[in-house]
Amino acid sequence: MTQIVTADRRMNEVIQLAKTVAQSKATVLIQGESGTGKELVAELIHQNSSRVSRPFVAINCAAIPENLLESELFGYERGAFTGAVNAKSGKFELANGGTLLLDEISEMDIRLQAKLLRVIQEGEVDRIGGRRPIPVDVRIIATTNRNLAECVREGSFREDLFYRLNVVNLTLPTLRDRIGDVRLLAQHFMKVYAEKNGKALLGFAESAMSLMESHRWPGNIRELENVVERSIITAQSDLVSDKEIHIERNGVSLIGDAVVTLADAQDKNSWVPGRTLDDIERQVILQALGFHKGNRTHTAKALGISIRTLRNKLADYRKLGIRV
Ligand SMILES: Nc1ncnc2c1ncn2[C@@H]1O[C@H](COP(=O)(O)OP(=O)(O)OP(=O)(O)O)[C@@H](O)[C@H]1O
Ligand SMILES: [Mg+2]
Repeated sequence: MTQIVTADRRMNEVIQLAKTVAQSKATVLIQGESGTGKELVAELIHQNSSRVSRPFVAINCAAIPENLLESELFGYERGAFTGAVNAKSGKFELANGGTLLLDEISEMDIRLQAKLLRVIQEGEVDRIGGRRPIPVDVRIIATTNRNLAECVREGSFREDLFYRLNVVNLTLPTLRDRIGDVRLLAQHFMKVYAEKNGKALLGFAESAMSLMESHRWPGNIRELENVVERSIITAQSDLVSDKEIHIERNGVSLIGDAVVTLADAQDKNSWVPGRTLDDIERQVILQALGFHKGNRTHTAKALGISIRTLRNKLADYRKLGIRV
């Protein structure tokens, strides 16, 4: 059973909506940055639907070349083209009675989009080289990490198909918009990977947690999952420290150090696009707080700011969901 770990209000609303629409046959479009959990939510919908005992079939439209994608989706008859020695059913037929996940739908060729639209409208597929259409009963879920409405405006995505797919729209928040989930997810992945690697780990040092809570996570939950897995494999003790949190930034791996000197910066070319002064400030403040074991007087003094300023900043972080 799919387990979606979150304490975020917006994420919980999405989950609730997903469960509600699961009962219907409505097509669902799941949007969100890479690694935000789109596939997981698609599985959740399938599991909460009456189709649960039927197949859940996924196909990644970006990973398969166009001509292959067509035969993968719709199947073909024997002799339909060179190499079609035997007939083959497509994903639509395989998913019959169940759910078909069309991953990264924005990458589908416009010609194929027309064919997909027809299948959705008619409820039947034509195998390549087939003589008569085959009726299929399939619930479609599509995902995209691009803004599909924008693709429509640009002309790379059919407007009519967009409306067909976008009957229900679920947009997943990024991990940086739910920083409060970092702690929960890190602990969740620690349990999973500690068990997998036969390690008895206690948890994360506060310094490690602060570091993770101040990163922007461009790769979202998948990136966090990888960082946690790696930290567990390399951990020297049963408490993972900030030294064991390897965060890749533009190919540069920064190990627990927030502040770089000018010489360092020029050396390592370590400017990180997308990281704001606020992010850096937050990272420094959280690290200092971790270092001073949560003592605000010491932290403020060390940072050269008033306790009042520190308090205000911590209140802002709390609004972002960070537990300080
Ligand atoms: N809320 C969550 N709780 C637990 N695990 C999660 C959660 N969200 C995502 N994951 C895990 O993070 C990884 C990435 O999730 P998923 O594959 O669903 O993302 P995606 O949005 O489909 O990414 P992409 O756009 O790159 O395909 C998976 O291993 C998934 O199990
Ligand atoms: Mg995916």
